[in-house]
Amino acid sequence: MPHSNLALVEPLKPLEAADDAPVQAVASPLAAAAPDVVVLKFGSSILRDAAQAPAVASEVYGHVRAGRKVVAVVSALAGQTDALLAEARDLGLDHSNDLLPAYVAQGEERAAALVAIACDRIGLDAKSLSVRELGVVAEGPLEHAHPVGLHGAHLRKALSEHQVVVVPGFGAVNDRDQVALLGRGGSDLTAVFLAAELGLKRVRLVKDVDGLYDRDPASNSGRPLRYRQASWDDARRHGGALVQHDAIDLGEQRGVEIEVAALGRADCTVVGHHSAPPGRSIPDAPVRVAIAGCGVVGGGLLARLLPDSRYEVVGVLVRDPKKPRDVDAPAGLFLSDREALLDLKPDLLVEALSEGGAGHDLIRAALERGVDVASANKQAISRDPGGLARLAEANNARLAYSAAVGGGSPMIETLRAARAAGPVAGFEAVLNGTVNFMLDRLDQGAEFADALADARVAGFAEEDPSSDLEGRDSAAKVKLLAFEAFGETPGDDLPCDVLAADFQADGPVRQIGACRLEDGVLQASVKLDRDLDDPLFSALKGERNALKVYGEDGRVWSCKGRGAGRWPTTESVLADVADIIRARHAALGYH
Ligand code: NAP
Ligand code: HSE
Repeated sequence: MPHSNLALVEPLKPLEAADDAPVQAVASPLAAAAPDVVVLKFGSSILRDAAQAPAVASEVYGHVRAGRKVVAVVSALAGQTDALLAEARDLGLDHSNDLLPAYVAQGEERAAALVAIACDRIGLDAKSLSVRELGVVAEGPLEHAHPVGLHGAHLRKALSEHQVVVVPGFGAVNDRDQVALLGRGGSDLTAVFLAAELGLKRVRLVKDVDGLYDRDPASNSGRPLRYRQASWDDARRHGGALVQHDAIDLGEQRGVEIEVAALGRADCTVVGHHSAPPGRSIPDAPVRVAIAGCGVVGGGLLARLLPDSRYEVVGVLVRDPKKPRDVDAPAGLFLSDREALLDLKPDLLVEALSEGGAGHDLIRAALERGVDVASANKQAISRDPGGLARLAEANNARLAYSAAVGGGSPMIETLRAARAAGPVAGFEAVLNGTVNFMLDRLDQGAEFADALADARVAGFAEEDPSSDLEGRDSAAKVKLLAFEAFGETPGDDLPCDVLAADFQADGPVRQIGACRLEDGVLQASVKLDRDLDDPLFSALKGERNALKVYGEDGRVWSCKGRGAGRWPTTESVLADVADIIRARHAALGYH
């Protein structure tokens, strides 16, 4: 059964048999095998140090959640290339030594492995490749070579098997099997070249500025204006150090437009054949964010939002402001009064309270004030998803709740994609990370109490874990998915099997939440399935969740990912935040 990063109607086209002959620059055998692939490039201005890897993973997550596979091209962490060069020179190697590029290219390989780890942490299925595995073939001087072909077997295989392939920029291999470098800023060139080989019309270079300006935005010489569309010549004239000139030339030759964008922003400069006069850009004022809850999820959000200059955390709502937290934050941010939080006039509320009733009341109060909301709280949203959606619309506010179902796996998005393609007949899913984790442990012979304790320590379980064990957590998620699928929710009385302390099983069991429209009536349940025959569900390990949506026309859509835990869930809320901000910018006329 087809399943992939997000919603797939059909299995990905099988990749052509591995043919390791170098691909000449004009031919693109990878192209046919690249449906919905995006090439993103992250330079040292973004990957300043290892602490920035989660922000890169965040950007990647947004694309995967939108149904794309990602090839992420990375530069070395800031300063690494110079440090490696200096180390080699200290041994007496001169600048033009043939062995130097292989040593220097390790900076990019290390960054690629690091970003792959950051992707895995949030539940993305990622793989990193080395320079030799990537197989860009280059000609010319070893430190300023030019790409001419691709040994694409490893990239093809990685792309067919994983959601995300992280590759080192800058490094290539020549016909003498030596590592060569593509010149300073060469990761831009790697990205443009790979996009061309994949048959893509665009590549996205993620920078520390949101596009190409008519003058250096950091200089004091008048008000800089940003291009929305810049010609190749504009880019050569104003791009300066922003985009490597060889990359601009290759983009022009191969017909690959170059997007110059900042992290988390949809708007960008598109460098290509068209040009338009530069204009005003999005104001840089940080988004004022209120956080509700500072436990597993709220704490993750606080840790990610506090140091990010795009946001200003204005307050954190908790029950006990004096309680010690596992995230470093100014004590003055914490408060326990809902109205006081909203009086801080946030633009956006991220809601991660453990109580359904309190969460619901807070979300309503925020929406009534026109504050956008991203919530992880399924018990709050599932009380009345239609009413909350109407309230948001009436107050010109936005409401998102992807993290409320499936943690980091994009279930809401998958259902929406399926529904957009035609009527939905039903769905079934593993929806609870705690129960799946425990069933796995019990199958391996663990004691019930130990399995539950481990799920709580890992941050998977609800504050009151009976909600997980008795199926109420999954039932709330079934309701939310049903709302997305059918525009209505099943009643509160849906039957739920309980995972009890005397649970016995001979073989794998999964908790399956399901809903189907039968004769105009929703039939929903949460059952412990002892008779598993679906490999998507039976293969799920630990806290992983998965969803299958059945279209009336027989098509099946699916997704999987980490269903619980601090980082996958935080990422999902942050992706909602990014979507909300993009929608707000679009409404203001910024694109
Ligand atoms: P948690 O660790 O128990 O944290 C809950 C937080 O909510 C605490 O900081 C608590 O304050 C605060 N809180 C609860 N009721 C409150 C009230 N009436 N007023 C003010 N503060 C209140 O819970 P969590 O695991 O982060 O989960 C948060 C939400 O995300 C839940 O709705 C959960 O279902 C959902 N979710 C969780 C995960 C996950 O993997 N954990 C995944 C997806 C969705 P104090 O700290 O002062 O007690
Ligand atoms: N307690 C929930 C679970 C958290 O284990 O799935 C994610 O919603």
